[in-house]
Amino acid sequence: MKNEVDTMLADVAIPQVKIPAHPVPRVLPVEEQESLKERIKIMLREKDAALVAHYYTDSVLQDLAEETGGCVADSLEMARFGIEHPAQTLVVAGVRFMGETSKILNNEKRVLMPDLAATCSLDENCPIDLFSDYCDRYPDHTVVVYANTSAEVKARSHWVVTSGIALPVIQHLAAQGEKILWGPDRHLGRYVQEMTGVEMILWPGSCVVHEEFKAEALRTMRRLHPGAAVLVHPESPKEVVDQADVVGSTTAMIQAVLRMANKEFIVATDAGIFNKMRQLAPEKVLLCAPISGDGTTCEGCARCPWMEMNTLEKLAQVLETGSGEIHVEPELAARARVPIQRMLDFAKTLKKG
Ligand code: 13P
Ligand code: SF4
Repeated sequence: MKNEVDTMLADVAIPQVKIPAHPVPRVLPVEEQESLKERIKIMLREKDAALVAHYYTDSVLQDLAEETGGCVADSLEMARFGIEHPAQTLVVAGVRFMGETSKILNNEKRVLMPDLAATCSLDENCPIDLFSDYCDRYPDHTVVVYANTSAEVKARSHWVVTSGIALPVIQHLAAQGEKILWGPDRHLGRYVQEMTGVEMILWPGSCVVHEEFKAEALRTMRRLHPGAAVLVHPESPKEVVDQADVVGSTTAMIQAVLRMANKEFIVATDAGIFNKMRQLAPEKVLLCAPISGDGTTCEGCARCPWMEMNTLEKLAQVLETGSGEIHVEPELAARARVPIQRMLDFAKTLKKG
């Protein structure tokens, strides 16, 4: 059941994000790729390192993470895995906030990333000074931020959430009568408002990948595939979310493919997720939701340009040289850990309940 809640966007001018061009993939000859993978496997063992990859990264990296005892997961699970795994080095294939979260939660471990320039438009939309000044205007509000933010923004917040846990956290806070300032993704914030009926002040950030999904073309696609279930990540625009059979985190979307009887699925998120979906449900037909015009096909699939910065070659290089290390100043990490830990503790109570 959806609730009609007025959207209150924060009156701030957020910085424009410079979106990098999609890299032209260098296709390695099979033997070269295999020997690179073997080298990486040896280095992971020798350096007591675990590879933690997001569902949006290249399928070769995802498969390698699993083959070597690491993990492929959503951002919440990546954080949990890093805590529980005994390896002294975590190599995070994803975007910068994921590496920073791992470092914040595992200060004694070394955290490496294949490319430190892999950022996220939501993180870029929410610079600490602007955000902190805005929060100062609402001292009676509980500040809840999405995990896609810098360590500084997390440290300025009361709660961190991922898309997988946002709804119960907001319900929990609202039940205690708390007023909420939400950042930085306005689409996810608006979706959470609609689902919970809780009014929040929304920071006006957005994901450059999910914002590209097109509602009109999706309507056409649904007409062409009447048996398909529509799965949408809540960072997408309202008119796209409104057409979904399932709205959820990357993990929720994967579970939907497994659980639902439909043969076909139209998927509105980064196409990197298809790797795990295909692995778990090879009999299902997966279609990219359109990002432009009528009849858009899979060629036009959304890919996060920052997730694409993670390559096998860069992974080998950081393992070899120790470059690409994430540093979060310990005092900042201690402050940023508080709202993340709050989320992780809350997640445990949900599992028990
Ligand atoms: P998840 O938290 O679902 O992994 O999503 C992270 C993300 O960056 C989505 O664009
Ligand atoms: Fe950020 Fe969007 Fe890329 Fe996710 S897909 S990392 S939200 S830019």
